Amino acid sequence: MVIFVVVTVLVLLLPGPVEEPSSELPGLAEAHGIKLGVAVAVNPLAHDAVYRDLVTDHYTSVTAENTMKWQHVQPERYEFDWSGPDLVVDFAEDNGLSVRGHTLLWHNQQPDWLAQGFFDADELRAVMREHTEALLGRYEGRIDSWDVINEPFEENSPELRENLWYQTLGEDYIAEALWLAHEVDPEAKLYINEFNTEGGGEKADALYELSSSLLERGVPLHGIGFQGHFVHGNVPDDLAENMQRFADLGLDVEISELDVRIPEPVTPEDLAAQADEYQYVLESCLAVSRCVGVSVWGVTDAHSWIPEWFPGYTAALPFDEDYAPKPALGGMVEALSRNSRRAKR
Ligand code: XIL
Repeated sequence: MVIFVVVTVLVLLLPGPVEEPSSELPGLAEAHGIKLGVAVAVNPLAHDAVYRDLVTDHYTSVTAENTMKWQHVQPERYEFDWSGPDLVVDFAEDNGLSVRGHTLLWHNQQPDWLAQGFFDADELRAVMREHTEALLGRYEGRIDSWDVINEPFEENSPELRENLWYQTLGEDYIAEALWLAHEVDPEAKLYINEFNTEGGGEKADALYELSSSLLERGVPLHGIGFQGHFVHGNVPDDLAENMQRFADLGLDVEISELDVRIPEPVTPEDLAAQADEYQYVLESCLAVSRCVGVSVWGVTDAHSWIPEWFPGYTAALPFDEDYAPKPALGGMVEALSRNSRRAKR
């Protein structure tokens, strides 16, 4: 008995196994009350166990990189493909991860049948309802936030983008889509997700004006996603300040698609500086009490959209092409370890 007690006490007093710093991330993020998310792709999620482990070891939330977009969910009218979305949501649930829903209305990755000019306003409203009811309805209670509106502004200007929705329904398509999403899933947090608005400027001001006017009208808008597709050396230095003004409107904010692309050739100095940039982005979120999380846009550099979409740039994510952690991962650990703990919401 005495021996048993002594052994038990000794075991309890011994330090636990030393963990790789990276595997602390989910616990650190939770301690700060924020999500640390990652965009996942269906193919590696289905077939690559190492990829799955990277996700579950380091993150607390997932976004479907493509498979919940219109083109994939409803490739033909009334023909829905749930295989990818179900895979992502089941995986998240099995592993205790939350899911960001991405995305309902966007100008990209729409199926041909939804082509511009094909439907009049009433028909397009019916199409919007069918799609929203199908997608948000299917995952009601399982997906807690949705990018209802993606990239409503022109790339580098404060003008609303004249996408299919705008052209057919006018600028109030945004309010209509938010009301509809709220009707279908009243508990879901509804977001506008945008890029080139992370730091202050004309486009961010326009997003701010849009958000305030929607809120003044009582439209169910709950959050703003700042995508965060940054170029190394060019991360805005007023991230927290800019997010704070949206938070002051009563909105949640998050960095929804973080990556920091580096022009080739990539040097060790670049990777070290990129770590500081990741750290800074995490710290900016922690500085804003209504910043609910940061999500990176892809699991490893082998899966990143950057080389294809921005030729000459690469190495944008916290894991390299061989799935090895990069200094950027350490930057995130550093940010979450250093700062005093924020109360859990
Ligand atoms: C990108 C995906 O990463 C690519 O695989 C796809 O070919 C194009 O879309 N803003 C968004 C994301 O909101 O949905 C985009 O994702 C990146 C830019």
